[in-house]
Amino acid sequence: MAKYKIALMPGDGIGNDVMDAGKIVLDKIALDAEYVPADIGWEFWRTEGEALPQRTVDTLKTCTCALFAAITSKPKEEAEAELIPELQGKGLVYRSPIVRLRQMFDLYANLRPCKAYKGNPLNYRDDIDLVVFRENTEDLYSGVEFHPLPEEVRSALEKHSPRMAAFKDVDSADIALSARILTRRGCQRIVRRAFEYARQFGYPTVTLVEKPNVIRETSGLMVREARKIAAEYPGIALWETNIDAQAMWLVKNPQDYGVMVSSNMFGDIISDLAAQLVGGLGFASSGNLGDGFAVFEPTHGSAPKYAGQYKVNPIAMLLSIKLMLDWLGETDKAAALEQAVAAVIEEGKVRTYDMGGNAGTLDVARAVAERL
Ligand code: NAI
Ligand code: MG
Repeated sequence: MAKYKIALMPGDGIGNDVMDAGKIVLDKIALDAEYVPADIGWEFWRTEGEALPQRTVDTLKTCTCALFAAITSKPKEEAEAELIPELQGKGLVYRSPIVRLRQMFDLYANLRPCKAYKGNPLNYRDDIDLVVFRENTEDLYSGVEFHPLPEEVRSALEKHSPRMAAFKDVDSADIALSARILTRRGCQRIVRRAFEYARQFGYPTVTLVEKPNVIRETSGLMVREARKIAAEYPGIALWETNIDAQAMWLVKNPQDYGVMVSSNMFGDIISDLAAQLVGGLGFASSGNLGDGFAVFEPTHGSAPKYAGQYKVNPIAMLLSIKLMLDWLGETDKAAALEQAVAAVIEEGKVRTYDMGGNAGTLDVARAVAERL
């Protein structure tokens, strides 16, 4: 039996293109792993009414971890309209399978490294090497939302918060409310993950990005918990910053930052900002990490206009494989893969269109495999 069992979920659109690139590199790495394909994506929504079939969930439960590429998502009405006729009018509702995977497997940490590889013409600066840890399950994205505001919720809020007086003349029908929920456990585990990563990879600082001066209770909880955890890591400095100022500093001095950690929405924003500093979607890898399971994926979507053309940049996918190797503890193989990717970028001969070249997706993967 192989040491690892890894699910491969190409999804749809360019997900297939970059997964094929990933397989070329995985073949070359020759990990002691069994790879099992698993269905996910638009085609399964259309024909089965389920973008994340139960058989895929069952398969994932038997796997060490999973590699996922990309899927198409569409708004509710459009999604319903594309169902095959037999499935129409049954009240099926499309829900993002990747969001569901994060919830189902409690993948609470979203890891997003942003490194400027030498010679990448898309680098904003050449000395950027930062990693964003974004909390993946709470905050404004927990889905506790109301519009109109139910009277019971309104009266409870009025009873407990004098600040509700500011809205006393507004009709409940005209109030929308999205709850920002942070828990002590949620704050602790994302911050701990960030510090552990800083220690493992030798980053001297962890920057906590919140807004405690205004959002006193939720951001405040995060800051208070972070300070307690930071005390357990004497060699690593905790920097506390506000999201607005941090956006500015990330553009002005991105080279100053190492590990960054934030709640879900602020983390979402800064990780996209940071990705663009080092080449954009073609370079943005990620890991969705839980305590015993993880799903690795390039952060880009299915880019339908390029689907099947083997034209897009596979580097985000290859770097996601690198993250997977690190998570598995295969750190030598991870380092070798990263070096091979870096060498291909620096050499500059095999480049996809986003880097100004005309090589194909698989050409880049082959060039990386050759270097391994
Ligand atoms: P997208 O990431 O698919 O593409 C936006 C643009 O970025 C593309 O048109 C292309 O110009 C560029 N791009 C993306 N990946 C690239 C790569 N590897 N190399 C070079 N250029 C690349 O985002 P978009 O167009 O907003 O969404 C398309 C579909 O993907 C939607 O259905 C959306 O819901 C879905 N999506 C899925 C995600 C996932 O699977 N995790 C994440 C984001 C979007
Ligand atoms: Mg995002």
